[in-house]
Amino acid sequence: MEQVYLDWAASSWPKPTGVAQAMVDFMGANGANPGRGGHRQAMTASRAIYECRVELAKLFHVDRPTDIALLSSATEALNLAIKGFLKPGDHVISTELEHNSVRRPLEWVRVNQQVEVTYVGASRNGTIDLQEVSKAFRPTTKLFACSHASNLLGSVVPIAKIAEMCSERGVKLLVDAAQTAGSFPIDVNAMGIDMLAFPGHKGLLGPQGTGGLYIHPEIELEPLLHGGTGSNSEEVGQPTVRPERYEAGTRNTPGLVGLKEGVRFVNTETVASIRAHESKLIRRMQEGLEAIPGICCLGPNRGEERASLLAFVRKGEDPAVTAHRLDREYGIAVRAGYHCSPLGHQTAGTTETGAVRSSVGYATTTEQVDTFLEAIRTMPAK
Ligand SMILES: Cc1ncc(COP(=O)(O)O)c(C=O)c1O
Repeated sequence: MEQVYLDWAASSWPKPTGVAQAMVDFMGANGANPGRGGHRQAMTASRAIYECRVELAKLFHVDRPTDIALLSSATEALNLAIKGFLKPGDHVISTELEHNSVRRPLEWVRVNQQVEVTYVGASRNGTIDLQEVSKAFRPTTKLFACSHASNLLGSVVPIAKIAEMCSERGVKLLVDAAQTAGSFPIDVNAMGIDMLAFPGHKGLLGPQGTGGLYIHPEIELEPLLHGGTGSNSEEVGQPTVRPERYEAGTRNTPGLVGLKEGVRFVNTETVASIRAHESKLIRRMQEGLEAIPGICCLGPNRGEERASLLAFVRKGEDPAVTAHRLDREYGIAVRAGYHCSPLGHQTAGTTETGAVRSSVGYATTTEQVDTFLEAIRTMPAK
């Protein structure tokens, strides 16, 4: 049975061939610690990491690559941004579409740092009401933290409009680009994004254990971790210089070498062509699913903008059972459950059931989408 991988929103696979090859080549030739030592291997390792930063800066239109902290995941980036920025007495606005990687750090600062949090509601199909957003600002609002696209509903948040509202009020904007980096155009300057958190292992096509945070040059964060940076060793405090301030501890050099190749692939293929491909496939998937009796699709209506994912429920069947049957009987990998997004399920009215989520990537083919649709169409009820 040929395997069909439709779980790109969780982690991308297959990666472009250059990714694994670059990691293997690097590990065979170099085991040095980047930024720790002046010998040639250490310098090569540092350069490799810098090149990864440069590729990312090109992708997100960041002026200074050193404004990107290279971290282990989007989750680490979101924790650094939220815990490092907010202070007691601050107010932060977020939305009911958020992944737990935004919501849990927000709840942590609410409970432990006396930060006030407002979650702006969304319509059943994931649209944020901008009037509600404008009403949520207070004199103490310091940050707006939201995902670019919901990982459950696939709806896309109007970041540029929210950025405008934030900038009029001197509020900083943190965007979780976990479901869009690599498949939607992101220009931090043009879109007014002050901090951008991204995973390396989804649309950027790098390995797991990589991610990062762009931090506007005028924003100072309290580091999440304190420790060795290979620089300013005589000082007791964490260096103020970037990116070391936010990168205590040895970096995941092989992972970042792989990420550099992934991002280079995206930059070469272009985000526009990846977006066009994924958008065509996800439209086909939605049209196909909506034509099957008993299938209820979540998120934006057909024809509306949607990230490269689609969650659905099969009437009368637990989504976990649907996903299990797709895997065991048809060789199709999708994800079932709550997708770390309990607020999103409240919005969609699927708190009781959860949902099945299928998602596509740059290497997904039309035939794979059709195989998936045929499986759903012909799968007998149990
Ligand atoms: C919207 C969203 N935010 C954050 C994350 C967390 O990303 P990571 O696995 O890199 O920590 C995910 C991953 O599923 C996500 O979908």
